[in-house]
Amino acid sequence: MNNVLQFVSAFLCFIGLIPSLLYGQTVRESFTLEKNWRFFQGDAADAATNTFDDSRWQMVTVPHDWAIAGPFDRAHDLQEVAVTQNGEKKATVKTGRTGGLPYVGVGWYRNNFTVPKFGAGKKRVQLKFDGAMSEARVYVNGKEACFWPYGYNAFHCDVTDLIHTDGTVNKIAVRLENKPQSSRWYPGAGLYRNVHVIVTEDIHVPIWGTYVTTPYVTDSIASVRLETKLAQADGKLLRVLTDIIDAQGNVVAHKENQQKLNYGQPFVQNFEVRDPALWSPEQPALYQASSQIFVDGKLVDTYTTRFGMREIRFVADKGFYLNGKLRKFQGVCNHHDLGPLGAAINVSALRYQLQLLKDMGCDAVRTAHNMPAPELVELCDELGMMMMIEPFDEWEIAKCENGYHRFFDEWAERDMVNMIHHFRNNPSVVMWSIGNEVPTQCRPDGYKVASYLQDICHREDPTRPVTCGMDQVSCVLENGFASMLDIPGLNYRAHRYEEAYAKLPQNLVLGSETASTVSSRGVYKFPVRKLGDALYPDHQSSSYDMEHCSWSNLPDEDFALADDHHWTMGQFVWTGFDYLGEPSPYDTDAWPNHSSMFGIIDLASIPKDRYYLYRSVWNKTANTLHILPHWTWNDRVGEQTPVFVYTNYPSAELFVNGKSQGVQRKNNSSLQHRYRLMWMDVVYEPGELKVVAYDEQGKAVEEKTVHTAGKPYNIVLEPAQDSILADGRSLSYIRVKAVDKAGNLCPLDSSSVKFEVKGAGSFKAVANGDPTSLELFHVPEMRLFNGQMTLIVQASEQAGKIEVHARAKGLKQGRTQIVTQL
Ligand code: GAL
Repeated sequence: MNNVLQFVSAFLCFIGLIPSLLYGQTVRESFTLEKNWRFFQGDAADAATNTFDDSRWQMVTVPHDWAIAGPFDRAHDLQEVAVTQNGEKKATVKTGRTGGLPYVGVGWYRNNFTVPKFGAGKKRVQLKFDGAMSEARVYVNGKEACFWPYGYNAFHCDVTDLIHTDGTVNKIAVRLENKPQSSRWYPGAGLYRNVHVIVTEDIHVPIWGTYVTTPYVTDSIASVRLETKLAQADGKLLRVLTDIIDAQGNVVAHKENQQKLNYGQPFVQNFEVRDPALWSPEQPALYQASSQIFVDGKLVDTYTTRFGMREIRFVADKGFYLNGKLRKFQGVCNHHDLGPLGAAINVSALRYQLQLLKDMGCDAVRTAHNMPAPELVELCDELGMMMMIEPFDEWEIAKCENGYHRFFDEWAERDMVNMIHHFRNNPSVVMWSIGNEVPTQCRPDGYKVASYLQDICHREDPTRPVTCGMDQVSCVLENGFASMLDIPGLNYRAHRYEEAYAKLPQNLVLGSETASTVSSRGVYKFPVRKLGDALYPDHQSSSYDMEHCSWSNLPDEDFALADDHHWTMGQFVWTGFDYLGEPSPYDTDAWPNHSSMFGIIDLASIPKDRYYLYRSVWNKTANTLHILPHWTWNDRVGEQTPVFVYTNYPSAELFVNGKSQGVQRKNNSSLQHRYRLMWMDVVYEPGELKVVAYDEQGKAVEEKTVHTAGKPYNIVLEPAQDSILADGRSLSYIRVKAVDKAGNLCPLDSSSVKFEVKGAGSFKAVANGDPTSLELFHVPEMRLFNGQMTLIVQASEQAGKIEVHARAKGLKQGRTQIVTQL
């Protein structure tokens, strides 16, 4: 192949198209079924059959979440349960636990598809679902093709025998069912991830059929090992040509090998790459292994695997090394929902989330407590975010009456294998977690189940260690459960880390889940004090970041554990983003609360104050100087109103209307004083609040000012993305604010804002981050929450301009434009 062709094929791989035209021959074809699905919420007899009339069903585009449009209702997830993992012994009435959304029930999807040239050289047709919520039964032309119960996992089935051979349209029907009390959070509902059709020759690389490892990695040389499975190839003499291609499209290594495969044996090739660009969160360098498979001189398949070269080591008493450098995880846990978009996957929404986290200095994500969408893992590879992938919240013992425990015995191994095969080539994935706070941890022989799952990981992917999020520290330190894991992960229980370190043979402790501090963006409670399970009449939590749940703690405690003990491996904070459901501490019949308050970033993707606390400690390349609270109080004149500053600078001086409130320096008098600058005795007077930061030498280096806002004057619209792709999917997140005449945020304003979106895009959703708001995300009108919210608009497939108008009574309207391009 000449250089130009190589470059073109590499480029096609990089933009996600499988190189199907090598040597002018079409080999495999792969497409997603996105448009023209018919959907019905409810059960329907005969809906699997080809003759069924679905013309009156709703037309939807997949990914689709049938429950996110609501309405919210207390009755949707009314339960009487004791949440045992929160230490509850008695059952009480719970509302909003799964988001108060109508996710329970049956839903049907139907669509048509044709398989080009099937029967004329095309031999295999497979369907791949990246996830379907849940208990999916897939029918093709009226016959059941596959069943997969776990809604979070990807699965596939060979439907070759069910496809029409005469080139006519094939019907696909999918029945999904979500049982009541099947989740502890909002799981979403429906075909919420992509559906793929993959057409290959008879001899082909099966789905997830390659395994790339890098057994030896240094700065100057890396060895790459590629295993390629081949289906229907037993006894055949195969010739495999593979290029290793770097991010610029250069072929950096090439092999051509010939081998006969015996049953189950993969085709193995080894490569040497000189001066490899190593993958890390800071420099996420990626490569492709691009193979062509020949049998008897005929090209039968082409397959491209993206991977990275990096070395991970977990060293007793020392910690985690990436490419030879010691580092501590600065991670967050996230549920899978995208707030107002629900569970329906969207790449630009995920990208925006990851960018916000990266700017905070976050370098790792734990997919709590389930398999992620492949798009998330790919973005983590591309943007540089390490991952701990975790499949389960339940093993064989129930947390929820209809949870995964119903399937564990029969399906756990299959679920693990799919997950590992799906993601073991992604360099961002550095660890598997086998579960979260499973009740099995306290069973005397619970370690056997853990060992069964850990062994599956070791068998399918010996390159990554295994952890488990454990909260029952007394049990697991005594019963052998914690000691048999590669990496012991503790959820909370910061006060037991030292004991765990002393008792466990691994000589390492990972904060697999930490903090669970609660706050509502822009809400401040007085007096300011550290409180567990604080409840207020407005059902909010304070943004002074001093409130947590009975089992949890404040961020400062976890910072100190990472800073003070060489054997701590860092942490995964609960959570990066607020999510639908689990409205602790308002979870005991505190309707209308129905979304979480744990997030560092709220449900509208707006950072809370806490974001800047983490940023001040984690982001080592940019300065942070953030003041709280806001300075617009109608009822606090003359009242003590503490001021906190989150900054990486060691000291700062605060001024109220030019009067110094003194210099504060970080110190060891308390954990809070170590990581925050706090002026507790400031007396509120309207005007100007200014902080001047000093460096180590005492030189004034940066300042920030907050002003008391005047009357709300106009709405401003600030797009995070002002130019997006005209692909029918890309989103722009637009911050909506009420400001006064001078442009100051009006932090108490709750005006209702109406949106009009015209031109080359449409209104997608709106969210204000208020965990008590029952306004619907898909209606283009909502109230501001503490002066702000987020509007999301989506590009159409025509390039042009999206025009956005925002109107609120008594305020000047806001406008903005987003450019969309092909
Ligand atoms: C943990 C649990 C998480 C979430 C969190 C809230 O115990 O693992 O899923 O429930 O508590 O603090």
